[in-house]
Amino acid sequence: MSPSLITVSYLASAALFILALGGLSTNETARRGNLFGMIGMVIAVLVTIAAFVTRNLEVLIAVMVVGGAIGFVLSRKVQMTQMPELVAILHSLVGLAAVLIGFATFLDPVAQYSGVEKTIHEIEIYIGVAIGALTFTGSVIAYGKLSGLIGGQPMMLPARHWLNLAMLVAVIVLAVRFVGETDHQQATLLLLAMTAIAFLFGIHMVAAIGGADMPVVISMLNSYSGWAAAATGFMLSNDLLIVTGALVGSSGAILSYIMCRAMNRHFVSVIAGGFGTSGGSSSGPSIEGEVQTIDIPALAQILNNATQVMVVPGYGMATAQAQHAVADITRTLIKKGVKVRFGIHPVAGRMPGHMNVLLAEAKVPYDIVFEMDEINDDFPDIDVSIVVGANDTVNPLAQEDTDSPIAGMPVLEVWKGTTTVVLKRGMAAGYAGVDNPLFVKDNTRMLFGDARDSLEALGQAL
Ligand code: TAP
Repeated sequence: MSPSLITVSYLASAALFILALGGLSTNETARRGNLFGMIGMVIAVLVTIAAFVTRNLEVLIAVMVVGGAIGFVLSRKVQMTQMPELVAILHSLVGLAAVLIGFATFLDPVAQYSGVEKTIHEIEIYIGVAIGALTFTGSVIAYGKLSGLIGGQPMMLPARHWLNLAMLVAVIVLAVRFVGETDHQQATLLLLAMTAIAFLFGIHMVAAIGGADMPVVISMLNSYSGWAAAATGFMLSNDLLIVTGALVGSSGAILSYIMCRAMNRHFVSVIAGGFGTSGGSSSGPSIEGEVQTIDIPALAQILNNATQVMVVPGYGMATAQAQHAVADITRTLIKKGVKVRFGIHPVAGRMPGHMNVLLAEAKVPYDIVFEMDEINDDFPDIDVSIVVGANDTVNPLAQEDTDSPIAGMPVLEVWKGTTTVVLKRGMAAGYAGVDNPLFVKDNTRMLFGDARDSLEALGQAL
C-alpha cells in the first residue's frame, strides 16, 4: 500500500473520530456520531492490516475473530445497568494492551535503535507501560466497585499520601536508571519493577476513592486509557493511534473536569482519595422525623390536579428499567395539559449520561429533559416532583453536613416544590451510603415498591 494512501486513509479515520466525538455531544446526534466512529475504526483496522502486517496474518485474523465474537456476545447480553462496569473493564483491556505492547516492543530483537532515538524509544515504552499498568489495575478495581464485588467505601490506609508519593518517586528513579541502562536484561528487570509499582499504584489510587466520587474516577480512567493508547502509538510509530489516543485522552480529561465541577470537587483531592470522609462514619447523622407514605390513587389525584410536574430519575430507574413506564406517564400527563419536565443530575446513575440514554431509549422528547443547572431554580414553582430511584443526587445533607461524603456536591433541590413523591423500595441509602433527610420532610411522600411496578400501576390509575 502506498504511503500517501495510508496517510489519506488515516486522515479520513481521524476526521471521522472527531465527527464521532462531536456527534456524541448531544442526544439527537449521538447515533450518527457512533456510526462515524464505527466507519472510522473499520477504515483504520483494514488499512493498518493491509499496510503493515507482513507475517502471521492468520494468527491476527484468528485473534480478531475470537475477540470480535467475545465482544459481540457480551454486547448482546449486557444489561443497561451493567454498562458502567463494561466500560470500566474495557478501559482495563486498553491498559493491559499498552503494557503488553510495551514489553513486546522492548523485547523485540528486530528493533535496532541507537543514540537519541534509542533514548526516546525507551522513554515512550516506559511511559506507555506505566500509564497502561495503572489504567489496568485501576479499572479492574473500578469494575469491582461498580459491580458491587468490592465495597464502595474508600480504603483509608494510614499515611496513604506518603505511600503515593513513595511510589511516584520510585517510578521516577527507576525511569532514570532504565533509560541509562545498557544491559538489556537489567533494563527488563527495571521495567518489570516499575510495572509492579504502577499496578499497585492503580489499585491504591482507585481503592482510596469514596463512593460518591467514582464518576470522576471513571472519566479519569477513560482519559488514562486514551493516553495509554497514544503512548502505544508512539512505540509503534503509528500516527493514527497517537491521534486517536490523544482524542480519547483529552476528551476524558475534559469530562473529568466537568464531573469535578458537577461534584464541586478539586481534581487533586479526588485523586488523593478519601475526600469528604473526615467525619468517620459515612452514613452521616441519622435522620429524625416521620416517614409519610402515599398510595397510587392519591398520587394519581395530585398529579391530575398539578400544573407543573418535575421528574427526577436516578439509579433506581435504571435498575427497575422503569424508563418506558416513566415515558408513558409523561405522555399521559402532557395530554392532560400538565407541563412535565425532567431534571437530570450530572452524576445520576452509574455513568455519565446514564439517565439521558435511558430516557432517549424510551423516546422521551429531548426538549423536556434539562440539566440540573438549567432547572434547579424552578423547583419553587413545581407542584409535584416525582423522584424515581434517585437518592444521593437529591440529598439535602450535601448542603447541610460538611462531614458527609457528599458534602458540597450540588443536588437537585426537589424539597423546594409543593410536594415531593419518592419512589423506592425501602429506606436504603444511595451509592455514597448516606441517609437522606428528604424522606422525612413535611412535604415528602414515599411510594415504596419497585419503581417500574409503581409507575405502571400509576399509569393505569391516570
Ligand atoms: P443512588 O444514590 O445510587 O440511589 C439509588 C436509589 O435507587 C437507592 O437508594 C435505591 O433505594 C433505589 N432503587 C434501587 N433499585 C430500585 C428499584 N428497582 N425501584 C425503585 N428504587 C430503586 O442514585 P442517584 O441519586 O442516581 O445517585 C448516583 C450515585 O452514584 C451518586 O452518589 C454518584 O456519585 C454515584 N456514581 C455515579 C456515577 C456516574 S458517572 N453517574 C458513577 C459511579 C457512582 P432502595 O434500595 O430503597 O430501593
